[in-house]
Amino acid sequence: MIRFEHVSKTFADGATAVQDFSLEVQPGETLVLLGTSGSGKTTSMKMVNRLLEPTNGQVLVDGHDVMRQDPIALRRKIGYAIQHIGLFSHMTVEENVAVVPRLLGWPASRIRDRVDELLTMAGLEPDEFRRRYPAQLSGGQRQRVGVARALAADPPIVLMDEPFGALDPITREQLQDEFLELETEIQKTILFVTHDVFEAVKMGDRIALLDAGRLQQLGTPRDLVEQPANPFVEAFLGHHHVQLRLMTQRIGPLLEPIDMEMASKDDSETLRESDSLLTALEKMRSAKADRLPVRRQGQPVGIVTRRRLLAALAENLGLSDEPS
Ligand SMILES: Nc1ncnc2c1ncn2[C@@H]1O[C@H](COP(=O)(O)OP(=O)(O)OP(=O)(O)O)[C@@H](O)[C@H]1O
Ligand SMILES: [Mg+2]
Repeated sequence: MIRFEHVSKTFADGATAVQDFSLEVQPGETLVLLGTSGSGKTTSMKMVNRLLEPTNGQVLVDGHDVMRQDPIALRRKIGYAIQHIGLFSHMTVEENVAVVPRLLGWPASRIRDRVDELLTMAGLEPDEFRRRYPAQLSGGQRQRVGVARALAADPPIVLMDEPFGALDPITREQLQDEFLELETEIQKTILFVTHDVFEAVKMGDRIALLDAGRLQQLGTPRDLVEQPANPFVEAFLGHHHVQLRLMTQRIGPLLEPIDMEMASKDDSETLRESDSLLTALEKMRSAKADRLPVRRQGQPVGIVTRRRLLAALAENLGLSDEPS
């Protein structure tokens, strides 16, 4: 879907931002570019929609070199959400979200329906927010509009450069959760930039860790946590090793068969198989429950008990006290 082949980028002043960068983003996957400030994340991302051009190597989208694709046509099939340039300040929320559908010549009624749908999805009541200008929104609301705009024309590929940056931790977490929820429905190919290791682990199917313009490791969050490829990766993640382990171990192996009492209740908090130990712990705590049902596509597939969960946590923390 998106492929970098030995891509390098050197700017006019001689600064090399990206060096010999190769990776492939699979259809439907969320791949996170993670790295410290200046490591080349934004530069790499901008070469996908031709906001920047590679000095060497190729970026392919749908199998074709982007340099041979019409940039306007290319950008119409790639949604783009960014933190800083953000929204057009002279346009209302509705006009901002409608930019690409308008360019594509959608009829007005279809655009209106789509704007309503996206604002609702982004948690912004359309009648309240449609006619506001960006200056009349909070930072978090602006970022929601930015995400809605990136998804407006239903592009198969979405680029997100720190889309939830500059938010307080609570709002940020809320937007991350909502986006994850949404993402399981829309199944886009997403390239997501962040410098926040927790955000990377939470959002990414895979993570590409960059340092000084070079790819240090590409793998699942768990790969990076459990098998760091080099001392840089180890140091980058090492500070948070315990928390990252709990975030990258999933509850799947803890599943026990569902019981009748659980199966008949459908209003309680539920877990997903892909939930991490930490997420499960948080959900169990807030539900004040000692067991929670696990669902797969809405269907109950088992339960996880608090006892099992605590045992798994203890084991991961090296505290397990196996009965002999
Ligand atoms: N137009 C430019 N001209 C010269 N150097 C640039 C230009 N744009 C970026 N750079 C340099 O390229 C390097 C990578 O920049 P980039 O914006 O890709 O970093 P980043 O990983 O996105 O960082 P951040 O997390 O701070 O956004 C930096 O050293 C930066 O100074
Ligand atoms: Mg950047």
